[in-house]
Amino acid sequence: MPLLNYAKGHKPAADKPCASAWLLALALTGSLGLDSASAQTQTEQAAVERGRYLVQASGCNDCHTPGYPEAAGQVDERLWLTGSPLGWRGPWGTTYASNLRQVVQALDEQQWLSHARTPRRPPMPWFNLRTMSDADLTAIYHYLRHLGAAGAAMPAYVPAGQEPSGPYVQFPSAP
Ligand code: HEC
Repeated sequence: MPLLNYAKGHKPAADKPCASAWLLALALTGSLGLDSASAQTQTEQAAVERGRYLVQASGCNDCHTPGYPEAAGQVDERLWLTGSPLGWRGPWGTTYASNLRQVVQALDEQQWLSHARTPRRPPMPWFNLRTMSDADLTAIYHYLRHLGAAGAAMPAYVPAGQEPSGPYVQFPSAP
């Protein structure tokens, strides 16, 4: 009230421009806020799309999605990267392609970058992941988070010389 009285009583002419300046400022702040929020959503969407593309084109589904190669890639996306219980047996023991949807839940972006570049047992092509840029690996991270947690943990690694209980692919010994 006192402010209004002051404006009315002493500066009627300045009242209008002043009020419109405020409105303009409010409108600008509002729209700027919206713009940066939607820009953020767009960046996130672009990362998810890029991650999806990379996962599909670089073959992660071949091992980390159950039945993917057998079905020529025609597997519901909701099952992608939930891991496969098919064992890979060789001189290194028997390994199982992990449920990446679960693995990623415990990691932030930075942790994912070093996790993805850590040497693994065959046949995981960890050396290929090492050649991916931070931006590409981060995009895969965003895609995995976007898909969300699903499925169960895969069987634990079985050391060489021990018999795995489930099905497995036998690699020949090195010639
Ligand atoms: C030829 C099969 C194969 C392909 C292709 C493959 N992986 Fe793997 N991956 C595995 C296996 C098997 C393991 C478990 C290795 C071990 O036990 O040391 C694994 C483990 C991993 C791990 C470690 C997860 C954990 O348990 O903490 C990550 C991360 C990973 N893979 C990411 C990827 C990504 C991303 C791609 C696609 C670029 C990919 N993998 C392609 C077979 C594969």
